[in-house]
Amino acid sequence: MAVLAANTQTSAMEQLRAYHELSKHRFEGYAPGPETLDWDDQPNVFRSFDGAPRIALPLPDDRADAADAGILFSGQLEPRALTPASLSEFLRYAAGLTAWKAFGPDRWSLRANPSSGNLHPGEIYLLLPASSHWAAGVYHYDVLNHCLEQRLELSADSVTGLSLVLTSVLQREAWKYGERSLRYCLLDSGHQLAQCQASAALQGWTFELAGSDRDVLATICGIDRPEYQGVEAEHPELLLKLTDSVMDIAKLAEECRASGDWKGTPSRLGPRPLQRWRECEAMAGQFDTQMSAQLVSVPSEMAEFANAELNARQTVLQRRSAQGYDNNRRLKCEEFSALLRPLMPGLSRMQLEPVGVHLLLFVHNVEELEPGLYLMPRSESGDALLRSVCTRWPALQEVYPAPELRLLKLKTANTRKAAAQLCCNQMIAASSAVTLMMLAEFDAPLQHQGLTAYQQLYREAGMLGQNLYLASSALGLNGTGIGCFFDDGVHQLLGIEDQSLQVVYGFAAGEGLKDERVSGMSGYHHLREVADA
Ligand SMILES: Cc1cc2nc3c(=O)[nH]c(=O)nc-3n(C[C@H](O)[C@H](O)[C@H](O)COP(=O)(O)O)c2cc1C
Repeated sequence: MAVLAANTQTSAMEQLRAYHELSKHRFEGYAPGPETLDWDDQPNVFRSFDGAPRIALPLPDDRADAADAGILFSGQLEPRALTPASLSEFLRYAAGLTAWKAFGPDRWSLRANPSSGNLHPGEIYLLLPASSHWAAGVYHYDVLNHCLEQRLELSADSVTGLSLVLTSVLQREAWKYGERSLRYCLLDSGHQLAQCQASAALQGWTFELAGSDRDVLATICGIDRPEYQGVEAEHPELLLKLTDSVMDIAKLAEECRASGDWKGTPSRLGPRPLQRWRECEAMAGQFDTQMSAQLVSVPSEMAEFANAELNARQTVLQRRSAQGYDNNRRLKCEEFSALLRPLMPGLSRMQLEPVGVHLLLFVHNVEELEPGLYLMPRSESGDALLRSVCTRWPALQEVYPAPELRLLKLKTANTRKAAAQLCCNQMIAASSAVTLMMLAEFDAPLQHQGLTAYQQLYREAGMLGQNLYLASSALGLNGTGIGCFFDDGVHQLLGIEDQSLQVVYGFAAGEGLKDERVSGMSGYHHLREVADA
């Protein structure tokens, strides 16, 4: 039996490694994906459940006073009771609509969380304890209408605290990104996890990761049910529960499985795809939902966010991915360290421990820092690994842009062109003030923890990306996640010859050029108009 298990695991790992290689973009050719896109076929970014009872949530007053932006990263506010008002605020700042863009006849929405290609693969299910406002049960968050859809009523004693199940619709990403799409789902779920934790902090709440098998998670949010046949599948990503809440997940799953009273039918998101991307589908089907890493717990005292221009709510609402940067804008040294500070281990609630992801920086335009290539190890063992594996420039020099912020300088150079080339010729990587590439410890965690490690590394990178988005927004600056890069090109640049480190994500930051497509419409203008009528 043990031998069989080992073999199964080995072949899953071989499959994973093959998937990783297949989904790399290379100078010679991109990862397999559609050659043309029919925009009319794009899967709907909003799922809803026809026939499910709906619970409206009061729209929060976005103009209300808010805590300093520092609370998004660390510190503890007085916990608020779970009411329609607090739940509404939590969901709005975790995953709600924040703005609309318009170009010609087209309009599309933006959310608190960013998403590769704005395709938003993620869905959120809630397990709510009974209250005078709702029955205990399983609910789906309808993002467009900012309301809850009740999927299942549960007995009052089965849910004692708020929990969330995050899922992904791979098809939404696969439509545009083909085989690479699974990586984007993982990065997106990392962003979403981080943003849930940041938004929870505004309510004085903290989530923790509650590991559970994928079958169990699928059962408690109902995505394994027959009504999903014929619509785009969702796969479970994560379970989050409020810290200190007790959850008997096996009992809950049993009740969900046994109940014949699930309500509503999931909407179809688009036409049947013409092309299937079988490797990423097969991998997604094998991933489990256990995490060996944990969310960092931060000190309860809040540190004000240095140089912040925006408060916590504004930081979330005004976070935008820049599509172009002012390459003349030099970051002040304090801005640069405020941007990187939330990436330092233990300094942000939007981090995982143990640390598995380190940074390569293309510094383009930062006061008191020579332009060039720098490394930022995020752990002692990571420092040793980077030094031993990044062999191209062995003469490392330590530099301290801020007393606690240590970088390893590899080379002084103008790296704008190289950064853009490595990021699939995207100019944002060149015109930013700084572009970062995230290097994940790869071989060792994969050997020790198998598929779990792969998911975890991408999620950790997504979470670091969310720190960078929020930090740049708080500073009145912009960021842009970069999922499109030539993987092995980055490895070659550093002289990485084996797979002990792999690049998993990138990020550009600086002062974004004004995006004329951002309309003046607020995220929920459509609901406010109805409420005001
Ligand atoms: C995982 C991930 C990868 C991304 N990759 C790119 C990229 O390669 N190039 C780019 O211009 N934007 C990229 N983005 C930014 C998205 O296009 C952006 O988040 C989306 O359009 C929504 O806009 P918003 O961030 O302003 O809400 C990425 C975002 C994420 C989360």
